[in-house]
Amino acid sequence: MAAMASGASQSAVPLASTAARDARIATHSHIKGLGLDEHGVAIELARGFVGQKSAREACGLVLDLIRQRKFAGRALLLAGGPGTGKTALALGMAHELGHKVPFCPMVGSEVYSTEVKKTEVLMENFRRAIGLRVRETKEVYEGELTELTPTEAENPLSGYGKTIVHVVIALKTVKGTKQLRLDPSIYESILKERVSVGDVIYIEANTGAVKRVGRSDAYATEFDLEADEYVPLPKGDVQKRKEVVQDVTLHDLDMANAKPQGGQDIMSVVGQLVKGRRTEITDKLRAEINKVVDKYIQQGIAELVPGVLFIDEVHMLDIECFTYLNRALESTISPHVILATNRGQSTVRGTEFDGAGVTAPHGIPLDLLDRCMIVRTLPYSQDEIQGVIRIRTGIEGIVVADDALTKLTELGARTSLRFALQILAPASVLASVLGRSEITVQDVEQANSLFLDARESARNLQSGMLGSAPSGSDGTLMDVA
Ligand SMILES: Nc1ncnc2c1ncn2[C@@H]1O[C@H](COP(=O)(O)OP(=O)(O)OP(=O)(O)O)[C@@H](O)[C@H]1O
Ligand SMILES: [Mg+2]
Repeated sequence: MAAMASGASQSAVPLASTAARDARIATHSHIKGLGLDEHGVAIELARGFVGQKSAREACGLVLDLIRQRKFAGRALLLAGGPGTGKTALALGMAHELGHKVPFCPMVGSEVYSTEVKKTEVLMENFRRAIGLRVRETKEVYEGELTELTPTEAENPLSGYGKTIVHVVIALKTVKGTKQLRLDPSIYESILKERVSVGDVIYIEANTGAVKRVGRSDAYATEFDLEADEYVPLPKGDVQKRKEVVQDVTLHDLDMANAKPQGGQDIMSVVGQLVKGRRTEITDKLRAEINKVVDKYIQQGIAELVPGVLFIDEVHMLDIECFTYLNRALESTISPHVILATNRGQSTVRGTEFDGAGVTAPHGIPLDLLDRCMIVRTLPYSQDEIQGVIRIRTGIEGIVVADDALTKLTELGARTSLRFALQILAPASVLASVLGRSEITVQDVEQANSLFLDARESARNLQSGMLGSAPSGSDGTLMDVA
């Protein structure tokens, strides 16, 4: 996942969905794991986590079960009031699993789309959360690139512009150098991989796919600080057999096979433009892919890596999705599922036919709830709130005076942790407008007077200050607690 994210930030046009996923995680950037010791006991303040010990320990236990592959067919439900760290816990678990295990975060409301069926969105995310590690021995050409010369010629068709007819490269290993004359399509993938002279690359002999391994360590002393990874000059011959390990998700395989593989003629190009919007992957295609994957697993070429699907705000799903989840959880290739909700007793979406619908704990039907292991997150104490605020001020680079920190903590205890964290940024702007680099009590008070917290706003509505009274409670656990 980390590799993917860095790739997206390098490319000129980052994918919209990737950017959205990043933005949602940004408020949790201080969370680096669950912060448990070797016995699985929560450390008071570790890896960005403060307090919430028993929930952290429970999550750690679930991680152990996941690692031992004993959590299939079950789900973990994180339940607790708003701002008690449910999303943070799930992201902490993702960190603990590492980037070799796929982690697919989604929000319950993502399933509602006019273009794609609800269950289709769920299925897609399920398949995003199942990885496949493919080991193949391939015929490759590997070495440090010492020459890259594309040969151009007049375009025979139009008379304008030039086309590349072939490209000559030279690859160097410890044993020697070999010059290769390549097809222009390989030149395109060389450009795509942003390969330049001095990089260690390999080219797959039968597909022509180019992979950049890293920068040759002959260049390692050029700069003091660089993001590049240095690799030694490959040993042996340029042409050789190499074991290549690739991590893909089932969704990647679906997508790769769903794309129209049309030719270069005009009709197929137009066809691709029209099909530019989201295509549904058919069940038939998935079944085909499953069959191929099964075959690979049996032959020992591939290994299944069940990852984690995290559905935040799970009460936003409706009864159709819940029944689908039940079935999907029981299928043989199911990822591990983590759900989070801040609702207490509430109506299950999609059951309100005339008048009241079915009410259930957390807005989740009982049959799904029965498959869940439930972990409760508890409201924070003053000390814990202060701890989180301290961490966030460090991350956001904000300096807070001691009495202002006390004030923020009180505010957090009276309203919510999230409100206290949200007030940090405006308060620091107010401080800098007045030419101060440190947030004082006045800044906090002023920011607090400018913005309402949830309870205050609700009270104003109830007292009719802003118009009509609310029709009822939204059923969050905040009201229960
Ligand atoms: N124990 C904790 N340690 C450090 N930071 C925390 C802790 N709990 C919560 N936070 C931070 O507080 C903020 C609010 O927490 P979070 O978003 O996880 O709450 P939530 O339970 O998901 O709330 P909601 O039900 O509204 O979605 C986040 O920025 C989160 O990273
Ligand atoms: Mg949340």
